[in-house]
Amino acid sequence: MSIERLAIEGGRPVRTRPLPSGKKVGKEELKEIIDVIDAGNLFRWGGTKVQQFEEEFAHLLGKKYAVASTSGTAAIHVAIGMLNPNPGDEIITAPITDIGSVIPILYQTAIPIFAEVDPETLNLDPDSVERNITPKTRAILPVHLFGNPCDMDALNDIAQRHGLTVIEDCSQAHFCTYKGKFVGTLGDIGCFSLQQSKHITTGDGGITVTDHEEFGIRGKLFADKGWRREEYGPRHYVVFGPNYRMNELTGAVACAQLRRGQDIVAARRRNGDLLTQLIQDVAHVRPQKLLDGCQHGYWLYGLIVQKNAPFTADEFSKAMQAEGLPASPHYIGKPIFLCHEAVRTQTLFGDSHFPFDHPHARKGITYDENTCPITQDVLNRLVTLPMSEFYTEEDVHDIAAGIQKVARLLRA
Ligand SMILES: Cc1ncc(COP(=O)(O)O)c(C=O)c1O
Repeated sequence: MSIERLAIEGGRPVRTRPLPSGKKVGKEELKEIIDVIDAGNLFRWGGTKVQQFEEEFAHLLGKKYAVASTSGTAAIHVAIGMLNPNPGDEIITAPITDIGSVIPILYQTAIPIFAEVDPETLNLDPDSVERNITPKTRAILPVHLFGNPCDMDALNDIAQRHGLTVIEDCSQAHFCTYKGKFVGTLGDIGCFSLQQSKHITTGDGGITVTDHEEFGIRGKLFADKGWRREEYGPRHYVVFGPNYRMNELTGAVACAQLRRGQDIVAARRRNGDLLTQLIQDVAHVRPQKLLDGCQHGYWLYGLIVQKNAPFTADEFSKAMQAEGLPASPHYIGKPIFLCHEAVRTQTLFGDSHFPFDHPHARKGITYDENTCPITQDVLNRLVTLPMSEFYTEEDVHDIAAGIQKVARLLRA
């Protein structure tokens, strides 16, 4: 009988064919685009597609207002524009995210405060959020990381007790649910990215939803240079904001993508949940924890190497790759504020330290290695695996077999 050996040590790899991939756009998108070209107007005002996308997205989520925009970053900026903070106001957010969650806070001259993540869910730890609240705090901006819904009851409870607005970053979490409700509908404002890698995509794009009338009206104006278009005659801008308007070609693709969205997420969910089930007894690595009553969307599949494991995240990832299965260590590597030199050094506008040195701002806010040590530790131990709606059950079984083999045999 032959002894099983890791591929990294010369054994037979679990998988010799690449995992499947597929095209995210096709005839349905093309048909919508042709409508726009036939109509001859690519601009959202005077067109129908962007408005249709906003209405259908809002309807699907059961929200009153939706504002389409040019990216997930823009969608979050629109949310911050709805909130309209004062310079130096604080917004508590997650240290494991894309910089697109952070840039809008700073551009709107508020200050991001990074609470720790829970090392099992990888999402904001509500206790840490509460410890970070100060008289300057205006909002909490949780990120549903990899499509894993945050502990929204706990976060909403904190927000309510402290009079804060909750802005959900759902850029990785379209159609993921918390206790039967879509994420993005649980807080005050929900933001989505439509960038190429996301569950539904227009290449780049975004959308922001809310039920609050004041936010809804302000958001629409904010994304359109503050221009109240119902008025004729001399220009009259009523909100200070950029131009984040989605165009009709993008809106056309978005309409078609929206029709596919829930099926895409259901397929990813089937695959991700199956993987979790297949690896539940594996030693030394654990999947990102999903809270009871939640449905994940597996934008990525997160695996956490346990503290006493006989291998590191780097070693585990290399061994998986040798088995023919993609895996990457550490996701963003460091808490997001250490990934961006201008943010870390708080030097954003010229060589000033605005808004950190604004008279209204709390003194002594810094971003360094001691800001989120729990988050750094779990990033050190994190491995991400791609997940896809194009994987078959057999593909998922191969991924599980690879994880089982590597976790059993790998010794540093
Ligand atoms: C969690 C999160 N927030 C915000 C963004 C920003 O989205 P975009 O790249 O569409 O601007 C992303 C995109 O990767 C993201 O993953």
